[in-house]
Amino acid sequence: MNKVADVHIFLLQLWIVHPALMGTMTSIIVLFLCWTIRDSVKMKGIPEKHVFVTGCDSGFGNLLAQRLHRKGFIVIAACLTEKGSQELKTCTSPTLKTVILNVTNPKSIDSAVEYVTAETGNKGLYGLVNNAGRATPIGPTDWLDMEDFHRVLDVNLIGLIEVTLKFLPLLKKSRGRIINVASVMGRLAFGGGGYSLSKCGVESFSDSLRRDMQHFGVKVSIIEPGFFKTGVTSLEIIEKDLNRLWDRLTPDVRCAYGDKYFQNYLKVQRLSMKTLCSADISKVTNCMEHALIARYPRTRYGAGWDAKFFWLPLSYAPAFIADIMLQLLLPRPICSKRSLAKNQIDV
Ligand SMILES: *[C@@H]1O[C@H](CO)[C@@H](O)[C@H](O)[C@H]1NC(C)=O
Repeated sequence: MNKVADVHIFLLQLWIVHPALMGTMTSIIVLFLCWTIRDSVKMKGIPEKHVFVTGCDSGFGNLLAQRLHRKGFIVIAACLTEKGSQELKTCTSPTLKTVILNVTNPKSIDSAVEYVTAETGNKGLYGLVNNAGRATPIGPTDWLDMEDFHRVLDVNLIGLIEVTLKFLPLLKKSRGRIINVASVMGRLAFGGGGYSLSKCGVESFSDSLRRDMQHFGVKVSIIEPGFFKTGVTSLEIIEKDLNRLWDRLTPDVRCAYGDKYFQNYLKVQRLSMKTLCSADISKVTNCMEHALIARYPRTRYGAGWDAKFFWLPLSYAPAFIADIMLQLLLPRPICSKRSLAKNQIDV
């Protein structure tokens, strides 16, 4: 009892001594509460609405399709492979439809649009989740050629733009929602190759799309996942591709990096994929669901603790701080400026 009274007296004294400080703190708490309440308001009559999700063979797309299906949405799940489509069908009911979609192939996108147009009738499409993506080839920039950049950009950025443009008429019809999967690597670029570029492109494409579409009631949300265990972060695929890049290098470049660099680079990949990647991919699909179900979807969703408390804050830090942090994570080539200087001193 006494302690409670003490706290009350303490707070009262604070108000008297620091009215401005206490006023500011109270306003922040009230604003935060209002935001939380607004954020938790749901749309009415959600089920019976059509949602089209790309990249449903595995990972986020696969889980999202199943969860939306269970919630009563009419899900049209786009898979790259027949195998992925069959597997998804076996664990869901026939109301979940699948289509085969290769986002780098305009004809494939056209036939998906045709299918969805027929399925949705004159209701239009309520949700488009642009989730399909790939990470490899990824590696130091001077290990890569244009083909390597195209392979990632064509799927993650150009494919996403084409899918969005072709579905826009259906989305405008129902004042629907677009959810684009970017990445923390779209906010902080590292690991050369098309991945960071493509995700950075998804961020800015989504920003301009949101500003253009607000007049039509179409809402656009961006998901920024940290590191999660999915096909994109599959160690087997990344290592196989790194070996391909390493074997292809000219002797000069390979010598400048050194065999040890390559071994350490692989070690860092293994360690970071094992320790950094979270297995709980529902953290990402929860954000996607919120963006579809909430009355007021957020513009950006940082998904995962690493995204919220490490990568996204680091992306706001001055570049030299981010540079130092990333340098600590990655190995150094033998012929780097510093090791050359050191060798000269040794001689
Ligand atoms: C997707 O389409 C592109 C372009 O038509 C083609 O090169 C690629 O092999 C296709 N990918 C798959 C997995 O079918």
